[in-house]
Amino acid sequence: MRIDVLFGAAEATSADLTGRVVVVIDVLRASTTIAVALANGARAVIPFDSADEVVLRSKSFERSEVRLAAERKMLAVPGVDLGNSPVEFTREVLDGKTVLFATTNGTGALLAVQGAREVVVGAYVNFSAVSALLRAALRGGTDITIVCAGRDRQFSLEDAACAGRYVRFMAKHYPALAYNDAARTAAVLERRYADDLPRLFLDAEHGRALRDAGFGADLDLCASLDAFPVVPIYQDRQITKVGPDRER
Ligand code: MLT
Repeated sequence: MRIDVLFGAAEATSADLTGRVVVVIDVLRASTTIAVALANGARAVIPFDSADEVVLRSKSFERSEVRLAAERKMLAVPGVDLGNSPVEFTREVLDGKTVLFATTNGTGALLAVQGAREVVVGAYVNFSAVSALLRAALRGGTDITIVCAGRDRQFSLEDAACAGRYVRFMAKHYPALAYNDAARTAAVLERRYADDLPRLFLDAEHGRALRDAGFGADLDLCASLDAFPVVPIYQDRQITKVGPDRER
């Protein structure tokens, strides 16, 4: 069995995806926001490339059924309900709603991974829940690919370190796993930061940019390990949470 890491969605080939469980990670902030939204009662999150697509698609829903969320350059796009700030994705705002969601990198990464057996959304806030699903996948003989969304097609430290946490956890349980070099590199990075996520976010370019833009509370939430224990699964063009009946 193997677990591979890709440091950008653009690197993904069909061999990396076909028949595998794929984890998409955009710790700051899209994958965290998706986990928070589903944990706080959103019925589903539907990813889009742009705010224009969000607005267009909203016309096929009753307005009261949906929340429109779109981010560019860290900020909410004018005219929608929400940006990509997970602290704003509360139960009061989201309960029972479908979130139409477009972000700079994270939703594009989700849209780019086609052909996988399953696509799940991973972050620190749902680490143990997603890890349980990954363990079950390996037990059942399915390989894993972790896709880091990155930042503007560049490597991003926080996504790589989070990927490394998943890799190290799996390595503990399955010592005979095979890895690509990116997975080994991610594991080394993870050891460097371990549980010091505030330090990780301070070292990461996007973490500093978010702090400077006034999103310090988002960073605290994104670092809250296992605070939102859901497994978001992307199938049939929408992300919903895996039910409690699913074997782990
Ligand atoms: C993205 O998708 O690029 C990010 O989540 C950006 C952000 O922090 O809003």
